[in-house]
Amino acid sequence: MQKTVPALAVLALPVLLAGCAVGPTAEEQAAMVADARKASGALIQKLGGELQGAIKEKGPDGAISVCKERAPQVAAEMSKQFNFDVKRVSPKNRNPAGVPDAWEAEAQAGLEKRLAAGEDPKTLDTWQIVDTPSGKMFRFAKALPTQPLCLTCHGDPATLPEPVKARLAADYPQDKATGYAPGMVRGIITIKRAL
Ligand code: HEC
Repeated sequence: MQKTVPALAVLALPVLLAGCAVGPTAEEQAAMVADARKASGALIQKLGGELQGAIKEKGPDGAISVCKERAPQVAAEMSKQFNFDVKRVSPKNRNPAGVPDAWEAEAQAGLEKRLAAGEDPKTLDTWQIVDTPSGKMFRFAKALPTQPLCLTCHGDPATLPEPVKARLAADYPQDKATGYAPGMVRGIITIKRAL
């Protein structure tokens, strides 16, 4: 009788531990990654399209409102649709709220290395299930490579159109998001979901 107690404990312990630390299954992880790719892809497509249209219609300074108002709106739509927390951040942020946290900064640095090693910028992303004080969290980052279109508002300050410069100076006095060249990672779309 005495022998069965430790035997039971040995059996029960791994089950209990697994119960505590249980995370999503491989299938659940794959589904979350697929959803994060869909959400970030939709954000890029929607914003890119609206940006191009607005530049044509209103000029680059008029298009600033697409980045300022529509980017957070579309990110909020994607958050709702996919049950994620979606936003854009950059180590050289323009929006004062766009500062990356430690995970995001590391993710972008890793993506920049992979880009430099020749990986296709279109599919450059990374993800991880991380432990936080309040439980596990799914985290995902997609690189936003700088395209020629982006330079109108993120390029060399000396070559920015005057009206853009004036508008940026008025709206973003702390702006760090200029000086980019094509192909550099402008920032990331960052996606989170508490599990
Ligand atoms: C018409 C001007 C304009 C163009 C063109 C533009 N941006 Fe922006 N971008 C902005 C403004 C303004 C903000 C700040 C938006 C805000 O207040 O959230 C911004 C913010 C961002 C951010 C969020 C992080 C931060 O710095 O605050 C990223 C990432 C970004 N832009 C990437 C791009 C990329 C990639 C392109 C090209 C596909 C692009 N932008 C084209 C004006 C522009």
